[in-house]
Amino acid sequence: MEEYLDLISEGIYRFEKGRLFIEDVCAEEICAKFGTPVYVYSSNYVKTQINKICNAFRKVSPLVCYSMKANSNMGILKIVKESGCGVDIVSGGEMMKALKAGFNAKKIVFAGVGKTRGEITDALKKGIYLFTVESIEELKAINETAGNMRKIASVNLRINLDVDVDTHHYTKTAKKETKFGMPENQVRSIIKNRRNFRHINISGIQFHLGSNIKSSVFYIKALRKLKNFLTDINFTPSVIDIGGGFGIQYRNEPIEPIEDFGKKICDFFVKNFPDVLMIIEPGRFIVGNAGILLTRVIYNKKTAHRNFLIVDAGMNDLIRPSLYGSYHEIFPAALKKGKSVKYDIVGPICETGDFLGKDRKLPGNLTSGDVIAVMSAGAYGFSMSSNYNGRVRAAEVMVSCDKVICCRERERVEDLWSKEV
Ligand code: LLP
Repeated sequence: MEEYLDLISEGIYRFEKGRLFIEDVCAEEICAKFGTPVYVYSSNYVKTQINKICNAFRKVSPLVCYSMKANSNMGILKIVKESGCGVDIVSGGEMMKALKAGFNAKKIVFAGVGKTRGEITDALKKGIYLFTVESIEELKAINETAGNMRKIASVNLRINLDVDVDTHHYTKTAKKETKFGMPENQVRSIIKNRRNFRHINISGIQFHLGSNIKSSVFYIKALRKLKNFLTDINFTPSVIDIGGGFGIQYRNEPIEPIEDFGKKICDFFVKNFPDVLMIIEPGRFIVGNAGILLTRVIYNKKTAHRNFLIVDAGMNDLIRPSLYGSYHEIFPAALKKGKSVKYDIVGPICETGDFLGKDRKLPGNLTSGDVIAVMSAGAYGFSMSSNYNGRVRAAEVMVSCDKVICCRERERVEDLWSKEV
């Protein structure tokens, strides 16, 4: 475990006298004060990650648009905004929340395959920087809407470069059979006929390869394909958005350090696309390891076949293990002496797929009330949570040095029916 904490902790997570600390706050004290399950975020971790990514890409000084689908808590958004980043959104709801958090509309990029006319209208009204266009029909809809509003809409064309990446099948987004982006022939035809879209300004090209990608080689491959394509059609973009997807450490898997990752991409970029603005859209990299989920043991249930540690967080709180078979490190927030046994760490939900971890060695004497930490839960944790099985969504708290504040209250049971009529 020490080895693991060294890999991910950035000086933020540590054990002091056998007790887990996030920055200078004790995990068990957070649970005593705010209850469980609770998401805990480290503000200093978020800042460290933003600095790291800016530093790694410094050669091209990209516009960093944080992908807020990873974690859209206002507390997180405020930190990201204050560091000067923009934001990558996929819905009108995300746009309104980003604006509420104080992001400048001029730093908002809007992706997604199904933008409605209503969302397009609102985004034009608010004056966002650009739309990442994913189909010809969408381009027509934006052109028409902008025309009706006597505006010119800036767009990036999202290209599907058919590049495979080293991640879960569900989070690959650049293979030709996925719904994302447009194939080369469609992008070519749009660019050739761009004069027909009188209310559109084509700023450039976007691609997004997938999520939790652990090597820069895939980005270089995509950029090389893009370079050939652009030379072929004789088009010079003013913006190239390389999407997000930069991977993080969940356990001891090999992963290219961000410094090398950024440098290699930048080297290729400046050589092949001089004077082009780069946009990057990291989500997970900024928040993934900045957050953990704390949960309490309800029962320690042993059978002849398996040992189950039943905890008060379930797949409705953190769906990644159930949905993608994702690995999250799990350990007690207070070290316990005693023989280790193998457990399945499971939630209270009525689904066999409701688990947080399988076959994990933890102390055999864990008991009701003990606090368990589920690590690397800052990205796609709370943001994918639900009320399934009549469970209220967890509280979220933010730690900053020795301070801890609640940044989203635990839902109340009344919230479960408050919208029903
Ligand atoms: N840009 C676009 C257009 C995206 O669709 C995404 C993520 C990102 C940026 C940010 O990707 P990131 O840097 O966070 O990898 N729920 C899945 C991940 C889904 C990612 C969706 N799109 C998971 O928990 O692994």
